[in-house]
This record gives sequence, structure tokens and C-alpha cells, in this order.
Amino acid sequence: MCGIMGYAGNQSALPILLSGLQRLEYRGYDSAGVVLQTADGLACIKESGALGELRKLLDGHAPEGRCGLGHTRWATHGIPSRENAHPHLSCHGEVAVIHNGVIENYDSLKRELLGKGHRFVSQTDSEVLAHLLEDAYAGDPVAAVRAVLSRIKGYFAFGILFQAQPDTLIGVRFNNPLVVGLGEGANYLASDIPAILPYTRRVLFLEEREIVVVRPESVVVTDFAGAPRTRAPYQVTWDLAEASKEGFPHFMLKEIMEQPRAVRATFSGHVSPEGHNLSFADLALSAERLAGFTRVLLLACGTSWHAALTAKYGLEELAGLPTDVQIASEFRYGDTPVGASTLAIAISQSGETSDTLAALRMARERGGTVLAVTNIVGSSLAREADAVLYTRAGLEVGVAATKTYTTQLALLTLFALHLGRVRGTLPEDRLVQLLDQVRGVPDRMEQVLSQTAAAVGECAERYRTGYNFMFIGRRYNYPNAFEGALKLKEISYIHAEGYCAGEMKHGPLALVNNVPTVAIAVQGRTYDKMRSNIEVIHARGGVLILLVTEGDTSLDAFGRFVIPLPAVDEILSPLLTILPLQLLAYQVAVRNGKNVDQPRNLAKSVTVE
Ligand code: G6P
Repeated sequence: MCGIMGYAGNQSALPILLSGLQRLEYRGYDSAGVVLQTADGLACIKESGALGELRKLLDGHAPEGRCGLGHTRWATHGIPSRENAHPHLSCHGEVAVIHNGVIENYDSLKRELLGKGHRFVSQTDSEVLAHLLEDAYAGDPVAAVRAVLSRIKGYFAFGILFQAQPDTLIGVRFNNPLVVGLGEGANYLASDIPAILPYTRRVLFLEEREIVVVRPESVVVTDFAGAPRTRAPYQVTWDLAEASKEGFPHFMLKEIMEQPRAVRATFSGHVSPEGHNLSFADLALSAERLAGFTRVLLLACGTSWHAALTAKYGLEELAGLPTDVQIASEFRYGDTPVGASTLAIAISQSGETSDTLAALRMARERGGTVLAVTNIVGSSLAREADAVLYTRAGLEVGVAATKTYTTQLALLTLFALHLGRVRGTLPEDRLVQLLDQVRGVPDRMEQVLSQTAAAVGECAERYRTGYNFMFIGRRYNYPNAFEGALKLKEISYIHAEGYCAGEMKHGPLALVNNVPTVAIAVQGRTYDKMRSNIEVIHARGGVLILLVTEGDTSLDAFGRFVIPLPAVDEILSPLLTILPLQLLAYQVAVRNGKNVDQPRNLAKSVTVE
């Protein structure tokens, strides 16, 4: 959470900082600020609101300097405001800090600093760092940083400027990501690669408990104790061409429409275009090792958790492996036994979600083997896991996850097929039949996106002013009920609940008279049960929007809107049923004038607990 951008080089720093921050806004966008080393000392300018507000403030008043830091904030301590925006300065304006993460013991530190006469201007936890550094500085900035690190608790990445140390940025990583970009006559510091990619493809990933000193001609990494750390730079091979709307009004819509291509790309790494070859040749876990696991533990947050809930069904049906799904933020404070025969799969599109990373580490400490499923090559999750599988969604900019979700579903389904094959639980003819369908899924997705848009639009128009929505499904499709509800609430701010349809009778049925219910009623093992659930809602005067399998007209009498979807095996059906739900959320939010790509209070990458 929060984006960090730093530059030390031979050009004017401000345009570079602002362009980097633009690409980091997905990490938070409630306020932004910059600090530059100028001929007159540190010049700090910040503003609440999105980056555009800061740009307005800088217009005609841009400080000039060749070394500086920028920050885009997602508030944790202190409301979004100009005072609480980063950078934060020490009392005498000689130290500037930007921070991503949380300083958990800031309250006691602040009291101590106030007692010493320090003056605070913000309500943030981060400001204590500037004052602590001011106190600790005795001519050696890195020594001051080390001294302060021994006093603070929490998890963080910092960027620091000392007025007394020209052309020098200091970066610190402890449980929050930080990368260094290596340029010609210039070096960069950033929370993530997209910020610096227009300037360099050579990056160093800082590891936990490292300090980096960045100057125009040098980059020096040490651990917290001062021992040198060296590593080869990583060469980034992907580019940012995808970070444009390509004519779509919003990134979210572009990303929804890209899903057939993203799923095709994800499949293509593993499934041959013809024939029935399913390959996981690059996976650092051999077939023998995979066959030896007796249990799977899926760990994730948010939309990735929904992908995990769906994957459980495939892993149990196809591979016969008992599968436990846990929200990472709960798992990390629980006592779930793991053990050597457990395959823990940590799922995170960004590969940087703090809770998921912590859960990965804990699963490993408890003896498990950890497989990462992520969209970002070189992310913390990918680097820390025993093995990695990559979705191939390309960069996702919209805060509401869409194509990263369907590519997770696609990849985890293939992995369940692979596990079923290596464990001998999946008959060859069933594998062949499913692979036949897998290859057709991207085309079916295209069909759904083009054929359902009009009906979804009508539905959005009809219910856009509602206060509540219910989404229900069963088995492979109940997680999509959760996901449909999540999409709607996060971008349209309409309250929505996702429920397992069979659970409606235990409470939520009391609500249905007043709310539209979206029911996923495609063919599958629980179709008849779902039909009964629908009839029960209809009998109580509930309004139903139904997703059904093409050709099934038997539910028409119950649905105010009935949206047919192509027939596929139930295992693959979530890849289709989610599409109208994403479109519904999008259409409602747009009709209500919401900022769909940057919904209020949220951020794409959550690196706080
Ligand atoms: C944030 C995003 C969600 C995402 C969740 C987990 O809340 O807004 O879209 O599902 O983080 O992110 P991850 O990168 O771990 O999949």
C-alpha cells in the first residue's frame, strides 16, 4: 500500500517522480507528495486527493532538483489530508521520509519525541521516523537509519533524504517491497517495477532487512547490521504497453474484455493447441513430489481467495486431495497444522499482499511446501515460494480484479488436472474430454462477453438505484456469487452479499422480498437443488436475475432477467458465469457516475496487515 518513487541522477527529478507516481497510483490515491533536494534545501510539496491535485499545485511552482522522492498514499493512520500526506519532514526540515507500511509502536515513540520538544504536524505513524532520524543524526545518515531501525516495530519500506547528503536517497525494506532501478548516470527507487520501467529494465529487488544507498553513479546494499549484500540485477522482459486504455473508457472494461486473451495465454503455457498434452514441465515440483502430498492448503485474500474457494472443488474432484482454504489474514494468527505432506498454495495476483506473504512464510515454517500462484514475475511471493506458477493476465490496472481472477481460475483448474493425472485419480478419457473443452473456453468467453452485454446493461439500468443485492450459487459457482457481490460493492458502493444458495434458508431468505437476487443456475451436479432455491425465493416475491445454460428455458418463469451462457463442464463454468457479473458491477457503477478504476478507500495492492 502506498507508492514510493525516488530518483537520483543528472536530470530534473520532478517529471520523473510524477510519472513514476502515476504508475503507482494503484497502490493508493488519497493524497500525494514530493520532496526534492534544491539549492535552498529540501523542498516538500504535497496535496490531498489523487495525483492530479498535486500536479495542479505544482503548476508554475515546480521545485528544481536532481534528487528526490515521491509518494502516493493509502491512509492507515490519519485521514487523507495535505498534512497527513507524505513526505514528512523533521522539525528543522533537514530530513524527509516517505513510508509504506505501519509503525506499530509510533504512539510511544511520538510521546517520547514530544517530550524532547519535537513538533508534529500530522496524525500519521510515519512522521515519527523523520523526528527519530533528526535525533539520531550525527554526520552519518546510514548510521542514523540503523539506529532508528532498532527502535521501530512494524513492517515498512522507507525512502529517506537528508539535506546534508546531496544526491543521495536511502531506502529500507522490512516486509514491504522496494526495488532499485539501475540506469545510466541515474538510479531509481520504487515500490514496484512499473514505476521505473520507462527508464530502465535492470532492477535489484531488495530483500528483507536491507538498506540501500542510491546515488547517481552507485547503489550500495547492506543488511541492517551493515554487512554488504550483493546480487545480480534482474532484467525485466515485459513492458508497459498494456497500461493504456486502448480506446476503452476505463481500464476495468478493457480488462474485462481482455479476459479471453488472458485465459488463452495462461492455458497456452500448459496445454498444446492440438492433441491432449498437458505440461507442467517448468514447475519446480516433480510429478513424484506432487504425488506424495496428502493434503492441499490454499491461502489467499480478496478475489484471490474466491479463486481458491473454487479451486478446492477441482482439487478434490479431480485429484482426490483433501483441500483446506484459508483467508491468509486468519491463517497467520491461527494454529492450523501444516506438515511435510501438505502442499500450501499461496495465491496472489500482485504477489505482494502482506497477509498472503506472511501466510506463505508460516506455512513453510510449519513444514509445508509452498507453491505460489501469481501474475507478477519477480514478486516477493514468487521469490519466496518453493515453486511458482504464473498466470498470464498482463498488467491489471483497475483496482477491481477481473482478468487476474479468471486467469487464476484457469491456471488452478489446469493444475488440478495435472495433479489428478500424476496421482492417478483422473481417468485418461475424462482428462481428454476436459482438455477438449479447455481449449474452447476462451472462445466461449468471447461469446459471453458479446452476447450478454445488452441484457446486463438493461439489468443495470433497472437496478442501479437499489441499496442491496444478493448473489447466490452452489458448488463450483458459489465463490462466483461472492465475487459478483464483491465487484458490485467495491465499485458501485451498493451493498451486496454473496451466499451459498443452500444457506439462504438459514437467514438471508428474510431479505429477499426487498432485494434483487442474482442466481447462478447453470447445469451441474446441484442444478436441481439450485432450482429449488430459486423457486423458494420466487415464491416469496423475490426478484431474480438468472444465469442459465443456453437452451434451458425451464427457469424462464422465475427470472425477471434470464441470461443464457454456453454449455461447458461444470468445472469450467466459473470462467463463464463470472463475466456477466463483472459487467453488471461495471455497468451499475458507470451509470451511477463512480470512479470504477479507483474506487474510494481501496487500493490494488495491500501491503499492510
Ligand atoms: C486488494 C485488491 C483486490 C485483491 C486483493 C488481494 O484488496 O483490491 O482486488 O483481490 O487485494 O490481492 P492479491 O494481489 O493478493 O491477489
